Amino acid sequence: MSGSQFLSNAIERVKPSPTLAASKRARALKAEGKDIIMLDAGEPDFDTPQNIKEAGIRAIRDGKTKYTDVDGIPELKAAIAAKFKRENGLDYKPSQVIVTPGGKAVIFNAMMATLNPGDEVLVPVPYWVSYPDMVHMAGGKPVFVPATEETQFKMRPSDLERAITPKTKWLIFNSPSNPSGAAYTRAELKAITDVLVRHPHVWVLSDDMYEHLVYDGFQFTTSAQVEPRLYERTLTMNGASKAYAMTGWRIGYAAGPEPLIRAMAKVMSQSTSNATSISQYAVVEALNGPQDFIPKRAEAFKQRRDMVVSMLNQAKGIKCHKPEGAFYVYPSCAGVIGKTAETGRVLSTDEDFVMELLAAEGVSVVHGSAFGLAPHFRISYAVSDAQLEDACHRIQRFCASLR
Ligand SMILES: Cc1ncc(COP(=O)(O)O)c(C=O)c1O
Repeated sequence: MSGSQFLSNAIERVKPSPTLAASKRARALKAEGKDIIMLDAGEPDFDTPQNIKEAGIRAIRDGKTKYTDVDGIPELKAAIAAKFKRENGLDYKPSQVIVTPGGKAVIFNAMMATLNPGDEVLVPVPYWVSYPDMVHMAGGKPVFVPATEETQFKMRPSDLERAITPKTKWLIFNSPSNPSGAAYTRAELKAITDVLVRHPHVWVLSDDMYEHLVYDGFQFTTSAQVEPRLYERTLTMNGASKAYAMTGWRIGYAAGPEPLIRAMAKVMSQSTSNATSISQYAVVEALNGPQDFIPKRAEAFKQRRDMVVSMLNQAKGIKCHKPEGAFYVYPSCAGVIGKTAETGRVLSTDEDFVMELLAAEGVSVVHGSAFGLAPHFRISYAVSDAQLEDACHRIQRFCASLR
């Protein structure tokens, strides 16, 4: 039996993460000594705040280096319940809370704990790359709902309603969005939850990872807060990665109905066990400690967003919508498709565009088809202002060079 025959059907349906592949390609060129600007990674360039690092170091010194309860230490579950109350107006008991190794694991465990073969999961497009593949791995079927540029990358309630079938189990809802940066206002979210109220068999996984990265006075709201009638069928998730610049610490968390939380803990108990003990203690400090650096960092991101949107709109053939949040923009490159690069290559797809841009100017971005909506590309503007400005000049130069 050959190696590939040995692999499961489920894993054969799964694509490796295209965003991690783009970073790897760019890092390899960098290692060869090329001048590369990486706008492909989904992580803040800021450092983890010092008080949070100290809490992790203290946990090591104090010997808090052993197994913990699978679903998290009581101090962290209490801090998470307090966070949901304070910031989202949601009441959760610690027994309704789970701590996971990164935000990704919340979604993966929820899918593993709930999907039977053929169950459908609604995923707005463009989507964060991992959603459809996690659904596949759990044996379910992703069903795509358009959220295109025409509607500022937000789903129309009518499109959502049309996509619901008796087999629909979940809507995975992400606002602010990776990759578009789109965030739903309270009224827009209410129009979405109104649809869900009419379909009591559909649950919602509200991925609030970018909650704190919203600009121009935008008020973040989450599904169960906007529509209390959905509380009993909502999994509200968040994590330390983006708001606290803790991507490497790997802590995500969620709250929802107890039977679901228990089932997710069961998945963890037979796979990863608990999230790293040291990281859990650090996140207690993150959630309970000073929060004043968050709006300061958001202001820096807002200024970068404004610069990148303005400079991209001056690049020939590129059109960039200004999103409400996250640290991504998702410009259209429709205006360069069909043009020829100086190498003689015709740009037939957004993937051709990003590959030629990387080769010609050393700017690494991710093609839109990876997120299900082409021809676009995703820029992560979580880099220094100087690098971002340089990268935008290079993109302008590259677009001007196309014939
Ligand atoms: C929308 C969204 N959800 C969840 C995650 C998972 O974050 P983590 O790094 O904590 O697994 C990410 C990370 O990129 C994300 O963009």
